[in-house]
Amino acid sequence: MSALKEFTKEHAPLIEEVMERFVKEHTSDQRLFESMQYSIQAGGKRIRPLLLVATVAAFHKPINTAVYQCAAALEMVHTYSLIHDDLPAMDNDDLRRGKPTNHKVFGEALAILAGDGLLTAAFQLVAMAEIEANQKVLLLQQLSKAAGTQGMVAGQAADIQGENQALRLEELMSIHERKTGELIRFAVIAGGVLADQTEEVLHELDRFAQHIGLAFQIRDDLLDATSTTEELGKVVRRDDELAKSTYPALLGLAGAQQALTEELGKAKEILAQLSRYGQFTQDVLLAFVERFEIRGNA
Ligand code: IPE
Ligand code: IPE
Ligand code: MG
Ligand code: MG
Ligand code: MG
Repeated sequence: MSALKEFTKEHAPLIEEVMERFVKEHTSDQRLFESMQYSIQAGGKRIRPLLLVATVAAFHKPINTAVYQCAAALEMVHTYSLIHDDLPAMDNDDLRRGKPTNHKVFGEALAILAGDGLLTAAFQLVAMAEIEANQKVLLLQQLSKAAGTQGMVAGQAADIQGENQALRLEELMSIHERKTGELIRFAVIAGGVLADQTEEVLHELDRFAQHIGLAFQIRDDLLDATSTTEELGKVVRRDDELAKSTYPALLGLAGAQQALTEELGKAKEILAQLSRYGQFTQDVLLAFVERFEIRGNA
């Protein structure tokens, strides 16, 4: 088994357990609970919470309850963003994580509320987490900034307004950085904060995260154009149908592939530099970067 698979097998069930227990214990409407639980349990790669845990582990710090609580909160914010992203008023998708989208099962109103619930519960979870007060306030600030109106929500707004538009590369990059990059950035920075790292190290982690965050959406766009519905668990070629601004639409498949390779290359360079800071082992984070590479048909 690869190091990354082993890491996932060890940590993903614990992240999932925290999410499921928290939602179960803090939701007072049965149908709302079922709707939230449906999307949490629908699977997903758990990339963001695993990256958070992997960053803490890279500094050889213990993976305690607080780390899993922050990781679970991040995955709850991400899951909410997907429920809303799939709504008829947004990307209007029927399949997510290999299952019918939340609104297809529970109706639009409950899907909207399940998203609202997961978003709010995520902050409740961090607020109740076993973390020292100063660190907790910092994490809450960073998560709200990453998820909110300078981060993911702003990126989603720009993405929707960018449909049927010929955007410049800088504009497209800015959409990707916000709609996808910011939550991935939070994963890595929060890992650094929980591992008690200095400003200097956090700055390097941030640079690393910005490259993998952008890479992740370029990859998602490439896979939409080249992969299959069975493989992705979501209907492919939707970006074309919705006339989304994407890297493949702007640069072609080869150009987008090259941009992906460049971003991942820069991320790897920063990881190698980070290894200079004493207690840092890059193996698992490097395995994440390599997992984001697309070889073959793209
Ligand atoms: C999909 O994210 C949406 C993007 C921001 C690209 P993931 O590819 O991480 O989706 P799941 O969590 O595995 O379903
Ligand atoms: C979504 O980007 C980013 C989010 C904030 C959810 P996409 O719309 O490309 O994500 P998918 O392809 O539906 O997963
Ligand atoms: Mg979208
Ligand atoms: Mg979408
Ligand atoms: Mg997509």
